Amino acid sequence: MIRLTDQEFLTIVNYVKNNYGINLSNKRQLIEARMYSVLAEKGMKSFSEYMTLIQQKNPEEIIVLLNKLTTNHTYFMREPAHFDFIKTKFLPLQERVNHRKLVRIWSAGCSSGEEAYTTCMVLMDYFSLGRPGWDFRILATDISEKAMSAGKAAIYSAESLKNVPQSWLTRYFVKQGTDQYRINDDVRRHVTFQRLNLMQPFPPMQQFDLIFCRNVMIYFDQNDRNKLINKYYDMLIPGGFLLIGHSETIQRDSSKFIYLEPSVYQKG
Ligand SMILES: C[S@@+](CC[C@H](N)C(=O)[O-])C[C@H]1O[C@@H](n2cnc3c(N)ncnc32)[C@H](O)[C@@H]1O
Repeated sequence: MIRLTDQEFLTIVNYVKNNYGINLSNKRQLIEARMYSVLAEKGMKSFSEYMTLIQQKNPEEIIVLLNKLTTNHTYFMREPAHFDFIKTKFLPLQERVNHRKLVRIWSAGCSSGEEAYTTCMVLMDYFSLGRPGWDFRILATDISEKAMSAGKAAIYSAESLKNVPQSWLTRYFVKQGTDQYRINDDVRRHVTFQRLNLMQPFPPMQQFDLIFCRNVMIYFDQNDRNKLINKYYDMLIPGGFLLIGHSETIQRDSSKFIYLEPSVYQKG
């Protein structure tokens, strides 16, 4: 075991917090335990050596650490109340007010893409029912390159699809081998994956009608959460929606969002 000194621990915590917003201050043992194999593989004798590599040569290396210390866990139809909201409230509203017939959705912190693809299937179901002429695009972003590759490959295990109805398996997936399914091209063409660090200024993007940021801000401190929520406010069209995880909240006095129902907020 390679021990983390107090100074090394502080360096890692500050670096990750300042660059990625993620708070590792109570993860000292986890860092030691999970990073041991990474350091050993590189023949390193201390965490200082590792941080020098990250800070001077290869910031992408830190993603390995982040992947080990945060969770990318997700699955299709997670927190289904949001998909009911989209089907019964958001989409009927779009039909009334969205004269461009173009719906733009952002799944921020999408992990391997299950949230984005679930949303896409809800929209495909809805617009295929005698509602011609609609276009929709879903941007799916995450800090993890590995998650982005998985999202683009779009191959999922039966376990991740346990809540997906049989009709969707038939309509939107192609079976691969015994227990894997690939999203078909009709669905995939609506979804774009892009690596994006939510702590950095956002690249130029058009505004969205709806943004998901579910189970991502749990890693951030309150100040970074507030800043990010205000950035989302600017990225939404007036009347657009922000959906956060059901265990998360937005402080009423820290943003201009209007609370609509649990974990659903609207730009006034
Ligand atoms: C638990 S997953 C949530 C996936 C999905 N939104 C859901 O609710 O099922 C959290 C994701 O947030 C991503 N993440 C953490 N910090 C991030 C940052 N600074 N920028 C972008 N993504 C980040 C992680 O890589 C991870 O894939």
